[in-house]
This record gives sequence, structure tokens and C-alpha cells, in this order.
Amino acid sequence: MDVSRDPINMTYIKEASEILRQGGLVAFPTETVYGLGGDAKDKEASKKIYAAKGRPSDNPLIVHIAKFSQLEEITANLPETAKKLADAFWPGPLTMVCNKNEVIPYETTGGLDTVAVRMPNNPVALALIEDSGCMIAAPSANTSGRPSPTKASHVYEDLSGKIEAILDGGPVDIGLESTIVDLTEDVVTILRPGFINMEMLKEVVGEVRMDPGIVYNDKGTTSGAKPKAPGMRYKHYAPKGDLTIVSGNEEKVISTINQKTESAIAKGSKVGIIATSETADRYNLGQVLVIGDRSDEGSIAHNLYDILRQFDELDVDIIYSESFSTPNMGQAIMNRLLKAAGQKTIEV
Ligand code: TXA
Ligand code: MG
Repeated sequence: MDVSRDPINMTYIKEASEILRQGGLVAFPTETVYGLGGDAKDKEASKKIYAAKGRPSDNPLIVHIAKFSQLEEITANLPETAKKLADAFWPGPLTMVCNKNEVIPYETTGGLDTVAVRMPNNPVALALIEDSGCMIAAPSANTSGRPSPTKASHVYEDLSGKIEAILDGGPVDIGLESTIVDLTEDVVTILRPGFINMEMLKEVVGEVRMDPGIVYNDKGTTSGAKPKAPGMRYKHYAPKGDLTIVSGNEEKVISTINQKTESAIAKGSKVGIIATSETADRYNLGQVLVIGDRSDEGSIAHNLYDILRQFDELDVDIIYSESFSTPNMGQAIMNRLLKAAGQKTIEV
């Protein structure tokens, strides 16, 4: 259903609300990626979400709300930092992990005593939450293991026939999933990097740390610790083609990718290259796709998942990507790209 944003088609929102209240599933746009929603208080709806995605049921869902009071309604011992962070970043791409009370069932939180909550900054999402009267449990609306959907057509590819409706609100704004912070320990901890970065969080709450389980070098996590967010433990977003990231001096990156592409093609492989508008015409072989402008990191975040899906359709065997350690979202972009590559990088 094409709801458009301005004005929103309330007839479709009302149909979708009714589906949610009946325990059904609706995919909807947020500013980060599309979500697959069900009534967060309804354990049967949460079970259907896991089944539709093929997702392990110990990987908890994010509860989407439209008012701060809903956070208070479903949590216990809410710290003051929650209010400060909400004032600074909600509605927006920040998810807070808090201690839960009995309102949200364990089926929604993957058996955990904590609940992840977010107020999305998208008019369709907010209209759906308000009109349905439901808090909406929603993971990204992709099949487990595929890139998160940034367009309604991606959701359709993965979940058509498995859910009751898809609300099409056009392409999303950001294109990477929300930043997740854990507020249940002494120090605010980033469990998943996103658009809201460490510096932005520090300005609001002072000390912030990165979950040691998501800090990698080429040998795996530097600390040996497991990521605290269950979803960060799985190999995610793996494209069908074998992806390697090439990083370092730009000229060397380009020549290394050109050499490797040439020898892979000589061996009969189909090769894809992830380039930027600044570098695309320096590659003569392989299937070159432009992810965005190096000077505009938002464009890179926005197109990343779509590019990975395009390479799946092109059926390439090998993908080489440039590296994108950009100033603000670089950590989030590289976190997703490294996961897609199974951490495979070449330093030149
Ligand atoms: O931007 C987003 O956050 C999107 C949109 C739809 O809001 N949603 C999203 O959901 O990315 P999902 O399910 O793909 O990722 C949720 C992540 C998983 O890594 C999960 O393990 C983690 O959040 N998570 C959820 N509840 C948690 C909890 N109580 N403690 C720790 N991690 C949690
Ligand atoms: Mg996901």
C-alpha cells in the first residue's frame, strides 16, 4: 500500500492499524530502515515476526513508541539519562536498552529482562503507532541474514506472502539501523553504532563507552568478548558474492582492486566493485557500482544495503569494496560493511 508521506493516506494507516490490533504483521518505513511490525504486547505476534524473518527467537525485537510516557510504561528503574537522551535525540535513530517490567512479554525481548525501545522519526511510523494504539515490536523487515531493507521493494522481495501488509513510504532517509545504547550499566554503552555517534552521545551524557564485543581488528574482536546485543553476534548482511574490503592510500586501493579484478576475471569469476562517484571511472573491468560521493557520507550510508542487494541480483562471485572511514558515520558504515565481508580486509 503506497501511503505517501505528505499527506499520509490515513485509509491505509487505519487498515494497517486494524491488522496490528488483530495480531497480524505490517511492514512500515522508519527513517533508518523498514521495520516488520507486530503488537509488542502480543506474544503470538512476536512469534510470527520470528517465523516470517526466519530469525532465531533469542534475538530480541525493538519496541517502537510515539510518546515518552510509553517508555516509562514498559520499563523499571528508568535512569535519568533516558530522559536526557530522549530530549536530545527522539524522535530519531537511537534505541535505548532499559530494564523491563511485566508489560512487554519475554517473547518480544528474546527472553531478556531488558527491553530495547525507540521513537522513530518518520511520519508514517508515528501515525501507525498512534492510530493503532499499539507499541510496535519491529526488527528490520528483511529475511534473516539479508541486508536490511531501505525501500518497500526490498521488503516485498524478502517477505511477500509471509506478512499481511507493506506500507510503502518511499526510500528511507538514513539507510543504516539505529544506534543502540545500553542504559542498564553504570556507563552508557554503545551496542551498535549508527547515525547518532559517540561524540553526539557524549555531549548529552558525558562518559560513553563502546561495547568491547564489537571492537574488531583483523583477528576478530580485540577483547575476545561476545557482543552484548544478540543480533551483533550473528554473521549478518552477507552478500552471495565473497566480499573483501581494500583500505589505505586511495591510489593503491584503486590499483590493487584493478589487479585483483583482472586476475579473478582471468580465472573465470564474475567480479563486482563498490566504488564512489570520485573513483568509478578508474575501474575498467568488472561490474562497477557507485555507492555515493566520498564527500557526502550520508549518500554512502543511504545506498549501502541497496548495492549489496544489487550485487546479489547480478550474481557476482567476488566483490571488492573501497573503505569508508568517514568522519561522522564512518564507524557505523564500516561496522556493517565489515560484517558483510566477514571482517575480510586487505590493507595496502
Ligand atoms: O533502526 C532500527 O533499529 C531498525 C528499525 C526498524 O527501527 N530496527 C532494527 O531491528 O534494526 P533489528 O531487530 O534488526 O535489530 C535489533 C538489534 C539486534 O541486534 C538485537 O539483538 C538488539 O537490537 N536488541 C534488541 N533488544 C535488545 C536488548 N534487550 N538487549 C540488547 N540488545 C538488544
Ligand atoms: Mg536486522
